[in-house]
Amino acid sequence: MKRIAVIPGDGIGPEVVREAVRVLKHLGETTDLQLKFTDFDWGADKFLNEGVTLPEDALDMLSSDFDAILAGAFGDPRVPTNQHAEDILLGMRRGLDLYINLRPVRLLDERLTPLANRKTSDINFVVFRENTEGAYCAAGGFLKKGTADEVALQDEVNTRRGVERIILAAFEYARANGRKRVTMADKSNVQRFGGDLWQRVFKEIAATYPDIEANHQYVDAMAMFMVLNPEQYEVIVSNNLFGDILTDLGAAIQGGLGLAASGNIHPGKVSLFEPVHGSAPPLAGKGIANPIGAILTSAMMLEYLGFQKLSDEIEEAVRGAVSANETTRDLGGELSTEQAGSAIIARLKQ
Ligand SMILES: NC(=O)c1ccc[n+]([C@@H]2O[C@H](COP(=O)([O-])OP(=O)(O)OC[C@H]3O[C@@H](n4cnc5c(N)ncnc54)[C@H](O)[C@@H]3O)[C@@H](O)[C@H]2O)c1
Repeated sequence: MKRIAVIPGDGIGPEVVREAVRVLKHLGETTDLQLKFTDFDWGADKFLNEGVTLPEDALDMLSSDFDAILAGAFGDPRVPTNQHAEDILLGMRRGLDLYINLRPVRLLDERLTPLANRKTSDINFVVFRENTEGAYCAAGGFLKKGTADEVALQDEVNTRRGVERIILAAFEYARANGRKRVTMADKSNVQRFGGDLWQRVFKEIAATYPDIEANHQYVDAMAMFMVLNPEQYEVIVSNNLFGDILTDLGAAIQGGLGLAASGNIHPGKVSLFEPVHGSAPPLAGKGIANPIGAILTSAMMLEYLGFQKLSDEIEEAVRGAVSANETTRDLGGELSTEQAGSAIIARLKQ
């Protein structure tokens, strides 16, 4: 029995997570998969009503009582500071030390990519984004704030340990999954200190994986090549900020944010799985959000929990539904969120 904490969150989060949980419960009824779900109402409503973002004991409770966390999205126009989202999401990523942000970029159907003349095999890579440090540490400060002489300093934190473990994870993944090349993206030509550390650690670790080709690109060049020659990528590793930007581009070339899945992982510990997209307030409550990102996220979670075959079956069902145009309108279909979820469940039954 695996214990899953479900945090639907804000906006379209609850709508898409509902479909992902329906898929998992269907597998629970038709296979020997045993999952126990516990819902948590953390999000904008709770923050506005009770002033609570991530409850005090949350991290200990998640670590001791759960095997994985399935989350929707956090962000609400009523909370312009986004404080609850930062506390909840960054709080879990940092507090649970989820140092790998794993984002697969896989084209499920040729029709979906905005790139011309691309086959599904041309766009099939994974991104390892460092998830606990870099530019997301809120380190820095103001001098003379609000004056004409104002100075704002925004620091970036790169630790030897942090850089080492994300690069190692990328090489380990490549070896375990038959991938032959790891490409590291940085901006070491101008970011002399952090970039230098990334370069040295990358070379050191690459030397211990002679079976895997180690490749380096500046991140600006990578953004260009992801559009022009995406077929060259197998595993990409980068820091928090560059990984964040590159994976939105990755989501675009695979067909849109509605399809993109992600895991926030610390191998061997409770890990957090969430679709890449946000709470999309304009879509919320309309029943039109695409549930595929959340459903593929649940497949990633199953893979993490050791159910590779069931994970593959979900992806196959999603692929079938997309090919048959059984999708929401963002992918050109006419189905509601719930109908799109049902179409995928129906394919799992076949
Ligand atoms: N991980 C997270 O929780 C997360 C990530 C990104 C943004 N956010 C938050 O979400 C809120 C909205 O942010 P945003 O608009 O920049 O990003 P967003 O991902 O919510 O939406 C961006 C665009 O993608 C489309 N889109 C996203 N998900 C979709 C889906 N499942 N189906 C169909 N279309 C989809 C939306 O229509 C929108 O045009 C903000 O408060 C932001 O801070 C949260």
